Amino acid sequence: MKKLIVLAALALSPVFSAQEMVNKPVQSYQTAQYQAKRKAFVENLLSKMTLDEKIGQLNLPTSGDFTTGQAQSSDIGKKVEQGLVGGLFNIKGAEKIKAVQKVAIEKSRLKIPLIFGMDVIHGYETTFPIPLGLAASWDMNLVQQSARVAAKEASSDGINWTFSPMVDISREPRWGRVSEGSGEDPYLGSEISKNMVYGYQGKDLSAGNTILACVKHFALYGAGEAGRDYNTVDMSHVRMFNEYFPPYKSAVDAGVASVMASFNEVDGVPATGNKWLQTDVLRKLWNFKGFVVTDYTGINEMIEHGMGDLQQVSALALKAGIDMDMVGEGFLTTLKKSLDEGKVTQAEIDMAARRILEAKYDLGLFDDPYRYGDAKLAAKEVYNMENRNIARSAAAQSMVLLKNENQVLPLKKSGTVAVIGPLVNNSLNMAGTWSVATKHAASVSLMQGLQANYGKEVKFLSAKGANIDYDAKLEDIYAAHGKKTDRDNRSKEELLKEAVDVANKADVIVLAIGESAEMSGESSSRTEITIPQSQVDLLNELKKTGKPIAMVLYTGRPLALTNVKDIPDAIVNAWFAGSEAGNAISDVLFGKVNPSGKLPMTFPRSLGQVPIYYNAKNTGRPLSQDKVDKCVYERFRSNYMDECNTPLYPFGYGLSYTKFSYSDMSVSNPNPKGNQTIQAVVTVTNSGNYDGAEVVQLYIRDIVGSITRPVKELKGFQKIFLKKGESKKVVFDITPESLKFYNGELKLDWEPGEFDIMIGTSSDKVRNSKINWTKE
Ligand code: BGC
Repeated sequence: MKKLIVLAALALSPVFSAQEMVNKPVQSYQTAQYQAKRKAFVENLLSKMTLDEKIGQLNLPTSGDFTTGQAQSSDIGKKVEQGLVGGLFNIKGAEKIKAVQKVAIEKSRLKIPLIFGMDVIHGYETTFPIPLGLAASWDMNLVQQSARVAAKEASSDGINWTFSPMVDISREPRWGRVSEGSGEDPYLGSEISKNMVYGYQGKDLSAGNTILACVKHFALYGAGEAGRDYNTVDMSHVRMFNEYFPPYKSAVDAGVASVMASFNEVDGVPATGNKWLQTDVLRKLWNFKGFVVTDYTGINEMIEHGMGDLQQVSALALKAGIDMDMVGEGFLTTLKKSLDEGKVTQAEIDMAARRILEAKYDLGLFDDPYRYGDAKLAAKEVYNMENRNIARSAAAQSMVLLKNENQVLPLKKSGTVAVIGPLVNNSLNMAGTWSVATKHAASVSLMQGLQANYGKEVKFLSAKGANIDYDAKLEDIYAAHGKKTDRDNRSKEELLKEAVDVANKADVIVLAIGESAEMSGESSSRTEITIPQSQVDLLNELKKTGKPIAMVLYTGRPLALTNVKDIPDAIVNAWFAGSEAGNAISDVLFGKVNPSGKLPMTFPRSLGQVPIYYNAKNTGRPLSQDKVDKCVYERFRSNYMDECNTPLYPFGYGLSYTKFSYSDMSVSNPNPKGNQTIQAVVTVTNSGNYDGAEVVQLYIRDIVGSITRPVKELKGFQKIFLKKGESKKVVFDITPESLKFYNGELKLDWEPGEFDIMIGTSSDKVRNSKINWTKE
């Protein structure tokens, strides 16, 4: 018997506790009464400050040079004492942080507390999957909860400001930093962006267990030419507003407390000195009220950009709307001179100082400068079992089943499994990039996870099989930040032989291959986006054993898997899954968790297709759908002679151990008018053999516009859980809001006419219905 259930809202994540959910933060600075109080306090303080002390508030050094006990005597300590530091970052530990705060409170003239920042990007010590992986969960409760856990851990250990969320849209898998963002789509990116802000900041920034979020990198950092980090960006304003700006704006709308400027240029001016960006768009258009910080030495780098000397670029940044200078001390060393010479105004310096003081006020630091960081609390809050369980669940939810033939997965809980790959016994690489506070040695490796969870029923044998790369020098570069890859100096043949011997003793092979953790992340651009040859050779060699192969993919970016995808029977994309990686991968391999992740970024067939993304424009010479589907070349059409137009795995794609069938879709009204709301409805049935979750996706195409419109755009999604045999009716409300776009005058509006409404399991598999929406 199939049950029909009307779905009310988003499906519940199994790990989410309802009391924690914050939907709309009521930030303190939103009430007039609060603002008046804050204003009185901050203006009074400003009136007592010297010019040096004001400029000091704009200075954000990295901690670096002291250990506990040396806070006061260190260089930074001396500057803190003189009131020349506004905040510090990259300092870890409640006691250490307290010691520096003590210098500020007890030794500096005005006793202004410091803020303490850190790159808490995907968790603090308890580490969640890399952000691109978390995005693949399409589970907004989980996304929000991951930020909530990170905020609780970090704040208990003294941190009150995170440089997250990173929301740079990117269509460029060569760029290593796609691992830190949520992929290619502005809608999904915007949903994630706001939920991260809600999770970090909660309802009350002074609660003690919430922290300031910092949306970054503003703006367009993900669109650097050729995927080379820090490279030039050049983009039309129509594209910026419609495709790249939405996730930043979403964070601003959610009340994000701070913004980080990006390294790249925008319209020929580095973002750090770009007034149009940091003031006209961010503050005037979007009404941003918080403070803007540069990225690491972002001001100084404008010298290399060719914008002038340190004094000039520092003045440029201040005038553009930058409030805080990360590391470079351009503000600290030149603003006074610029003021004397009339190159900046007192009002501009006061404004920046005011914004930093307001943030400190919002955190409650003037009431209690030691509010954040308590060693006893940290011992309870940080890396506790509850948080690790949430991270484990998040990691399993992030995994994407790319292929599963011959029912290789889930694995049987019996017999012998050969676990092979360069990182199967490696903990250090499990967290992935940007994991500053992670307890790396404690991260669960694949072998540890398998043994701990199924070691009683299943015999696991392991072998390395290959190094990450044949080239030892390259592998050294890949093993950055201490994330060693345990290079094995035996010959290629010896490594392969050992792996084949182990495989021959097993019933099935679990082969974990792909990238090491720091092959993606900052300054980790690649010109090839394939699995290194050493590991492809291993796969081919194991194939000869005739044993079934379940491949686990480690990656921080979309890879071109064309040369490997036909060889294994199954592929699970595990990304870099965090502290609990090995446990979560075991959960998926053995079917404790049925994978439900969907790709947040297109996987191309080859690098030559890049940039390739689902929400592309049609062009004037599109290839017919039939030819696209059959991969047929046609001269004088927009296609390649030597490659299909379709990607290997499209945006929104991901399989399950069960099967979901979609009914035809219907719309409640094919001819809506004005501000009406209509419903698009589909019934989804779990017609396979396992319970499981499905992400039902809504896309819309605006068929005729005053500017060209994408062939489809994601406009909604619902993650639903269906028991075996169960059906659910999924309803999407559609209003003109979903039809809006920035037109040629950069005005946000919708245009009447025909729209194609599409619902499906991925961006390339949809049912559709045409509607005609008129203004009146
Ligand atoms: C990165 C930022 C990061 C900052 C502070 C920079 O190199 O681009 O994303 O927040 O360093 O660590």
